[in-house]
Amino acid sequence: MNLKILNLMSYLAKNYNRKRIAFKKGKGSYLFSDKGEKYLDFIQGIAVNSLGHAHPKLIKALNKQSKKLWHVSNSFIIPEGERLAKKIAKNTFADFCMFQNSGAEATEAAIKVARRYFYSIGKPNKNRILCIRNSFHGRTLAAIYASGSKKMTEGFGPKVNGFDHFNFGDHKALKKLITKNTAAVMVETIMGEGGIKVIPDWCLKGLRKLCSKKDVLLILDEVQCGIGRTGDFFAFERAKVKPDIVPIAKGIGGGFPIGAVLMNKKVASGMTAGTHGSTFGGNPLAMQVGNAVFDIISKKSFLNNVKKNSQYFYKELNKIKERYPLIIKCIRGRGFLIGLQLYNNQTDFIKKLMDNKLLTIRAAENVVRILPPLNVKKSELNSALKIISKVCSKY
Ligand SMILES: Cc1ncc(COP(=O)(O)O)c(C=O)c1O
Repeated sequence: MNLKILNLMSYLAKNYNRKRIAFKKGKGSYLFSDKGEKYLDFIQGIAVNSLGHAHPKLIKALNKQSKKLWHVSNSFIIPEGERLAKKIAKNTFADFCMFQNSGAEATEAAIKVARRYFYSIGKPNKNRILCIRNSFHGRTLAAIYASGSKKMTEGFGPKVNGFDHFNFGDHKALKKLITKNTAAVMVETIMGEGGIKVIPDWCLKGLRKLCSKKDVLLILDEVQCGIGRTGDFFAFERAKVKPDIVPIAKGIGGGFPIGAVLMNKKVASGMTAGTHGSTFGGNPLAMQVGNAVFDIISKKSFLNNVKKNSQYFYKELNKIKERYPLIIKCIRGRGFLIGLQLYNNQTDFIKKLMDNKLLTIRAAENVVRILPPLNVKKSELNSALKIISKVCSKY
């Protein structure tokens, strides 16, 4: 494919600033370009390919299902979805699942579940959602206004009402903004696009307490930080809190588009027949892959391995930071959701990593986001460390 010509002649809308490269194959942690170049892929579709590219068990699950049944309407029982929902319910805080196709759909549906619950118990005015300013919950209309980012909402008015915002870490504002009309607080357990900002465990605990005291639901958006990425199945588990509603997506499909809203029994009571639906959500192909991903990632030994390998990676990254204190400001994140915060704009640094065949992606606040697959090998982590070190040395 002649990428120069494609640049001039692409019939795709220009809403992405695409790099001039195409890939023809992926295997594990690696991507191969159509020019035969090999890249260490530490983006993995932005935390989507949780098990890397072309995992044999996922290929098998998809192939097997593709020969049996692709799609049936949600007006019928879908056994593969029943199986996945049961596994999630037996292994997590959730009592029920509602399958979608993407993260934004999952966060929108989470908002609907919260509002519908209060409506169903006779409190229809309790419908406002309190979010962190400049967070990221997706690109649908409600999700961009939930995110409270000027950049994302500019030109897309009229404003979708019903959202209030506080700044990350501003507990005073958070408390003040909770009113009798607040239905839920919705936050990312770890802010991904916002710069890999972790909500500390003590803070999550306090937030849970506050929500319970004020009769407000707690929605933890785990679209990016969930499904084993931090070394726990959900990032919030370490704080030993139980949210009411959790939107997930990305990692649960391992590359196949799946989203879901997980919820407890209390809030699920509002979601009676006809209150929500999705043509494709929970279709047999997606569910078969979701089951295969869940079976691998939910294993204690797998999660422990994520913890062990990521701790090694942080330790080594911190050594690089100490060697280059004028370049790297801090290393943040948890598990394999990693942010390398630079003193200066990160665009050039990311380009240099790519020139050295390591793919990473930006996040806010000068952060270089590093998202290896969860089953990354230690030797691949070492290759990445070598490249990061080399780029720092030439910076
Ligand atoms: C925390 C969070 N929520 C929601 C979304 C939206 O997901 P999607 O792009 O699948 O709609 C994202 C995507 O990056 C995300 O990181």
